[in-house]
Amino acid sequence: MEEKGPYIITEQPGIKQYCSCGRSQKLPYCDGSHKGSGLHPAKVEIDEEKIVAICACGRSQNFPFCDGSHKAEQ
Ligand code: FES
Repeated sequence: MEEKGPYIITEQPGIKQYCSCGRSQKLPYCDGSHKGSGLHPAKVEIDEEKIVAICACGRSQNFPFCDGSHKAEQ
């Protein structure tokens, strides 16, 4: 079983758009590659500098944030 852990990032305040389609070349951020897929990025406002864990496996129930689901049995 492959375990794909989250992206750990120190984010600065502002509006962030995290990729939910997996096509972006700038993961974990959206680069517009979702166009035509019917999927859209997760838009999040970060209010202060902080470390975030962004889901990389696509299974989080709290997307775009990691909830530990990458460790679950498949
Ligand atoms: S490129 Fe994946 S949601 Fe925009």
